[in-house]
Amino acid sequence: MNITLIGMTGVRKTSVGQELAKRLDFRFIDVAERTIMLRDDLDPEAVVKEILHMLSHAKKEGGNEMAKEQVGYADCIEETLKGFNEDRVLLVSQGKQGPPNVMTIGWGQVGIIWKKPIFTVLVRPSRYTYKLMEESGDFTVNIVPPSLKEVAQYCGTASGRDHDKFKEKGLTAIPSLKVQAPIIKECLLHFECRTVHKNDLNPSSLAAPIIPALYPKGDFHRLYFGEILACQREG
Ligand SMILES: Cc1cc2nc3c(=O)[nH]c(=O)nc-3n(C[C@H](O)[C@H](O)[C@H](O)COP(=O)(O)O)c2cc1C
Repeated sequence: MNITLIGMTGVRKTSVGQELAKRLDFRFIDVAERTIMLRDDLDPEAVVKEILHMLSHAKKEGGNEMAKEQVGYADCIEETLKGFNEDRVLLVSQGKQGPPNVMTIGWGQVGIIWKKPIFTVLVRPSRYTYKLMEESGDFTVNIVPPSLKEVAQYCGTASGRDHDKFKEKGLTAIPSLKVQAPIIKECLLHFECRTVHKNDLNPSSLAAPIIPALYPKGDFHRLYFGEILACQREG
């Protein structure tokens, strides 16, 4: 017996599917197919009732993960560039142990390299984030709503070495779908990335005027090329 989850996409569908799988022991075929296959001995009415109950429960709780839905990264590029232009982009990293850290990034790009969707971010070695990025290759990029722009300003000046920026700014870390570093609930759009390549900016290959303008103290960025493993937005 099959049930098709019409109108449910992304994380909502995945969460419902996974929860149902736990409760009802069905075989969840493929989120992209929106179809779940149930054991023959299950009562379809009871299953539908269970789905409706779960959805209303999630709504009441304002359930974090239920509020996000999975989207294609390519449909989000314009919004991401707007975020960069308006200083509304946050990078979240998490070391092997310890809490996640968030810092504002002003530079980055989304594209295709090695036949993979890639989000490239640039991090200076002086950042606490750099240490965490070196410990774990996972990171997330999160676009802040315009109403929380001040948060991005703060996360771009305070350091995780001596500040818990999540706590100080009331940000909520929620689990990512595919990577270890969390996403930020209060943000609009999220990219989940796993580093597949990194390299240091080479000053001798950089156009000369850029160095005094942007690197007066050295501190040349390390570039992290993260494969985009999932992209979610506010549902
Ligand atoms: C608008 C804005 C954009 C920034 N972009 C970057 C960036 O792309 N790379 C970087 O290394 N630092 C960037 N910074 C600086 C870091 O966000 C800042 O130094 C932060 O405090 C580092 O935090 P951390 O020590 O917790 O990693 C930016 C700051 C602002 C305000």
